[in-house]
Amino acid sequence: MCGIVGYIGEGNAYNVLIGGLHRLEYRGYDSAGIALVDDNGKLNIYKTLGKVQALENFCKDKNVEARVGIAHTRWATHGEPSDCNAHPHYSEDGNLALVHNGTIENYKVLKDALVEHGRTFHSDTDTEVLVQLIEYIRVQNDCSLLDAVREALKQVVGAYAIAVIEKDNPDCIIAARKSSPLVVGVGDGEFYLASDASPFVEFTDNVVYIKDEEIALIRRGEPLKLLSFDNKENEIDVKKLEMSISQLEKGGYPHFMLKEIFEQPSTLLDCIRGRVVDKGRFVTLNGVNDNSETFINAKRIVIVACGTSWHSALIGKYLIQDMCKIPVVVEYASEFRYSNPVITHEDIVIAISQSGETADTLAAIKIARGMGAFVYGISNVVGSSIPRETHSGTYIHVGPEIGVASTKAFTGQVMVLTLLAMTIAGLKKTLEPRYAEKLGEWILKLPALVEKVIELAPDIERLSLIYTYARNFLYLGRGYSYPVALEGALKLKEISYIHAEGYPAAEMKHGPIALVDAEMPSVIVAPKDHLYDKIVSNVQQVKARGGNIIAIVTEGDTTIRNIADHVLEVPEVPECLTPIITSVPLQLLSYYIAINKGKDVDMPRNLAKSVTVE
Ligand code: G6P
Repeated sequence: MCGIVGYIGEGNAYNVLIGGLHRLEYRGYDSAGIALVDDNGKLNIYKTLGKVQALENFCKDKNVEARVGIAHTRWATHGEPSDCNAHPHYSEDGNLALVHNGTIENYKVLKDALVEHGRTFHSDTDTEVLVQLIEYIRVQNDCSLLDAVREALKQVVGAYAIAVIEKDNPDCIIAARKSSPLVVGVGDGEFYLASDASPFVEFTDNVVYIKDEEIALIRRGEPLKLLSFDNKENEIDVKKLEMSISQLEKGGYPHFMLKEIFEQPSTLLDCIRGRVVDKGRFVTLNGVNDNSETFINAKRIVIVACGTSWHSALIGKYLIQDMCKIPVVVEYASEFRYSNPVITHEDIVIAISQSGETADTLAAIKIARGMGAFVYGISNVVGSSIPRETHSGTYIHVGPEIGVASTKAFTGQVMVLTLLAMTIAGLKKTLEPRYAEKLGEWILKLPALVEKVIELAPDIERLSLIYTYARNFLYLGRGYSYPVALEGALKLKEISYIHAEGYPAAEMKHGPIALVDAEMPSVIVAPKDHLYDKIVSNVQQVKARGGNIIAIVTEGDTTIRNIADHVLEVPEVPECLTPIITSVPLQLLSYYIAINKGKDVDMPRNLAKSVTVE
């Protein structure tokens, strides 16, 4: 939610900042803005409603000469998307400009107090309060900007990553974070600052992840300084960035989402590399073998996640219960945190998050740790908060996911959960060794099988034309295919804005079947598994009510082919691996329907990829 970028050095700040905003647009695209201090000491702020491209157009005839600046792309929380609510916000004396990602919970109290002291506000945002407060403290106490920022942050309740620049001191950026991500890129005589490292990947691979409640003092020509809120100097840990520029580009595809769908054979390969070895005979996962006693003795596993990650968590439940005989509970992180959860030291809590920054998931982790559970994280973004807040964990290694609708991260998460379940089962000896070996062999074949599924793209594109203007969709599945149906429905909703409901197929007769008619297509996920005969009955029930059916079936299926209106055949795999195979055609179906409707699939309205607010 919201992306921030900063630059100080000898280069062209505007170019770095605009390029960086484009990379961070997945975090929000309601408005964009930039603040630059030119060499004559003039602070220029340009901001506009809409995407970064609109800001670029707006700046065409403006003075954008500068060697220092900050910029922002917004996902609106306080105040509607508009020019005046766009960041950067500035102080009343026009000396300071500030960008912010997060929410200031006590902004109303602070704003009222500042209004009483004669300040005028120009926006409805919580952020403007912060910049006005910093300036107020600065003037009142006649202190340095650093001291004013520190004092202001002590008064603030909420989550933030901020960057501040000052007209009268163009050689410095002050940044700070609490619960929202912030990374500094250390270049040669220059510094970059951003919500993640993507804006500066082509300029430097030296990164410093700012910690919670840490202030970064970034000065031209001087070494970076990190300070705690009580003004102690912290050690600087420069890490090497593992990201390449090609991962951040569309590589000839019209959209990141399509690129990411098509990449899945290789991202799955990256995900299993070094983890399934000896021709499938041996499966291992970071953090599980090193904590073997904890996993062997776990009485229960609780998985917390949001959105698509919650759907992979549901698949994780089936995998772990099937293979490890450990009871599993799956919770929305946002519900878990306010449900007075009962967690003990005998529980393992697994947090799944592509971004590693989701605010609710982070809060759930803190609660679980506080109650004595061992917390294991599954994330994609290296160096993000969740891997740092958990006792142990692993990465899915699928590379940056930029399309807002998650695709390759979902299959990566399901793959890692499969390996996790197999590793625990290996420790607990709950899986028959010969079966485990066979499964390992199948996993090694999966990337090639997903490649075959992707070859269905032209058929799915043709099929999408028939259903582009349906107003509602039903997605049904049972067992491992039930979360796949939920995920398929979510994909369609997110990017095509068609209402879609995912349901366990057998539950359909308790309500949703009333909706079935010739106008509402049903997408039924029905691979050959131990529930196949049951789902055939569900398919018949929909057909008997005049519903149109698109079925995802295993190659060679004749029974459903004779009932359904359309079938998409996927290769046969063991039941526990079907979600990785059956989810791909649903990703493609939603993509093509959204494209037919002319929607912006990579940046669907109202959504953002990284949800760092509650
Ligand atoms: C947002 C994204 C989804 C994602 C969810 C959870 O809603 O648009 O794609 O599944 O957040 O994010 P996380 O990074 O925790 O997996």
